[in-house]
Amino acid sequence: MKKSIKKIAVLTSGGDAPGMNAAIRAVVRCCTFHEVECVGIYRGLQGLIENDFTPLGPRSVKNIINRGGTFLKSARSEAFRTKEGREKAHQNLKASSIDALIVIGGDGTFAGAKIFNEEFNFPIIGIPGTIDNDINGTDFTIGYDTALNTVVEAIDKIRDTANSHNRLFLVEVMGRDAGDIALNAGIGAGAEEILIPEEDLGRDRLVASLKRSKASGKSSSIVVVSEGDQIGKNILGLAEYIRENLNEYEVKVTVLGHIQRGGAPSCYDRVLASRLGVAAVDSLIEGTWDVMIGIRHSKIVAVPFADTLAGKNELDKDLIRVADITSL
Ligand code: F6P
Repeated sequence: MKKSIKKIAVLTSGGDAPGMNAAIRAVVRCCTFHEVECVGIYRGLQGLIENDFTPLGPRSVKNIINRGGTFLKSARSEAFRTKEGREKAHQNLKASSIDALIVIGGDGTFAGAKIFNEEFNFPIIGIPGTIDNDINGTDFTIGYDTALNTVVEAIDKIRDTANSHNRLFLVEVMGRDAGDIALNAGIGAGAEEILIPEEDLGRDRLVASLKRSKASGKSSSIVVVSEGDQIGKNILGLAEYIRENLNEYEVKVTVLGHIQRGGAPSCYDRVLASRLGVAAVDSLIEGTWDVMIGIRHSKIVAVPFADTLAGKNELDKDLIRVADITSL
């Protein structure tokens, strides 16, 4: 039997991502459209345990579509991993007469959502929000496009110095265990080499390839290193190895770090977040939950949490060939 949904709560959890605010805004305004009450939960699953709730209406989310971060704040909650924590969270939802929950976050958030739904049969929907683009079942996650643009802009600037001084730059980018940011931003920024966890290039092959490109007439080089890459695990160690085995360049290291998570969301992320936020509320009203609302071939899809956790979003291996050819 369909449960009647009259009050929906929304939270953001895990690492913040540009576009999360746009997703919250869409959720709140779609609740208004369906004449359903909306409640915001501060600091993600931790705020759910600590009863940190606030009522949200269409005017509470004005002027936020263009803002990075998340105005509801975020956290990685250790307490939600415990049965006691989740029981407290459930009590708080019941006490506030909340019928359903929308969580915006990554795979850690979805793992918590899946357990919570199984334990309490509580309606939950997930919206993929992470710069890593590593969620199975969706082609894109909110924040990924903005992060790519941030990385490309940063590497364009680094290239000015690389060119002017005939230097080799190792640039570390985020992505946890996924190489999506490195591979796509690397192609976009015209990197000479891209090191990703999905493909083990090996340090010697890297050095040999850099020597070849130097011999072909290049006067500087950019190597994009994904933080999860095995050979670049310690980017300073990798820099040392290259210095010892390649005399042709002065080697410099730049770790882009959290700059990649900040800033105003791109138009793509704003539209994606708006579409997913609206679809998440629609789905609850129509009686479908325990799923992530994602995007596949530009169409909205509902993917069971279990499937989102079954693996990682497949990296398009054709892109590796494109990177190899276009960096010749
Ligand atoms: O999941 C997003 C992400 O930025 C990863 O790319 C990175 O590995 C991690 O979060 C960093 O987490 P924190 O901000 O907690 O250091």
